[in-house]
Amino acid sequence: MRKRILLTTSATIFFLFLIGLNSKPIVSSAYALPTSEESKEQGRYLVSAGGCVSCHGKASGTNDEVDVSSLAGGLKLVTDFGNFYAPNITPDNETGIGSWTSTEFIGALKHGVQPDGGKYYPTFPYRAYAGLSDEDVLNIGAYLMSLPPEKNVVPPHELPIWLTRFSANIWNQLANITQRPEASPQNNGKDTYARGAYLARNLGHCGECHTPRNALGIPKLGEEFAGATLGDEVIEPIDAAALTEWSETDFDLFLLLGMKPDAEFVGGDMSDVIEHNTSLLTDSDRAALASFFITYQRDRVDSEKISRL
Ligand code: HEC
Ligand code: HEC
Repeated sequence: MRKRILLTTSATIFFLFLIGLNSKPIVSSAYALPTSEESKEQGRYLVSAGGCVSCHGKASGTNDEVDVSSLAGGLKLVTDFGNFYAPNITPDNETGIGSWTSTEFIGALKHGVQPDGGKYYPTFPYRAYAGLSDEDVLNIGAYLMSLPPEKNVVPPHELPIWLTRFSANIWNQLANITQRPEASPQNNGKDTYARGAYLARNLGHCGECHTPRNALGIPKLGEEFAGATLGDEVIEPIDAAALTEWSETDFDLFLLLGMKPDAEFVGGDMSDVIEHNTSLLTDSDRAALASFFITYQRDRVDSEKISRL
């Protein structure tokens, strides 16, 4: 029996290695990056709703000051797995993404694949962005390409020796197998929920910080939004159980101002999320997020209770 388990495990690992070796996703090259002003404007909005500047803002040498009017990168992101430096995503040909095609944008944002086929490290929250529509990704690309190119060479990541593009690939295969993302709620006549789920799970990637992770750093999607720790920072749960005292209006106001129902202001990394992301959402998008977190999560828990009776 033990032998069989050992054999199955080795076979699985070998299989993962094989798919790891050949994982370039098939992305249609028929898309072109849109060039209309409308697309760029939509892209600008998506970049703020996607919180890109929280990581890709231009960092000064000491990291204390981040220029959020630029996406030239350089910010040091300290994680349990090493220090990552967010790349320059302005369209500079040498140090940024000036030569990128629409296919490469979709490959990077939705599949976590580099133009040369290597795998990105999941500090770049592409597993959340995987659920974005192709249209939204192309609008993001259109906007990034319309920015002034800035030359900025970003330092290489500082990682333990075992952490390579290859192991990132295996990590992804494991994450795919073990953690199926929960499907976003279908409309049920209420489009707001679906929009809220898209903003929470995908574009706003709230779960990247608020969902606990297992020992391999893979988010435990069965415990979505149940709170986590990031280094020494405690990240509160924002699931139905945690938000029983909150109304949709409270949540909406929180996303706009960072103020909780008890009139306390939120701190830590969340104040950045409020400042650069949720406070810039349209009224209807903020309302959709509030509806998802308060009403949808509560209804879902209630219907699970009923089905267990
Ligand atoms: C939590 C931090 C974080 C957020 C938020 C984030 N990124 Fe990144 N991004 C990274 C890191 C780190 C990398 C590099 C990963 C690597 O080297 O494997 C990266 C890589 C990229 C790349 C590839 C660049 C290259 O030169 O290969 C693109 C494009 C990109 N991000 C765009 C975006 C966009 C657009 C958004 C918002 C929708 C975004 N990122 C949000 C951290 C982040
Ligand atoms: C970069 C990590 C990060 C991301 C992304 C993030 N949060 Fe947070 N959030 C935090 C941290 C850290 C705290 C606790 C801050 C503190 O200590 O005051 C927090 C606190 C909160 C709280 C207050 C909870 C309470 O009971 O006090 C709410 C609500 C919240 N976040 C909602 C969201 C939503 C909605 C999103 C997605 C749009 C989101 N967060 C994305 C890190 C994050």
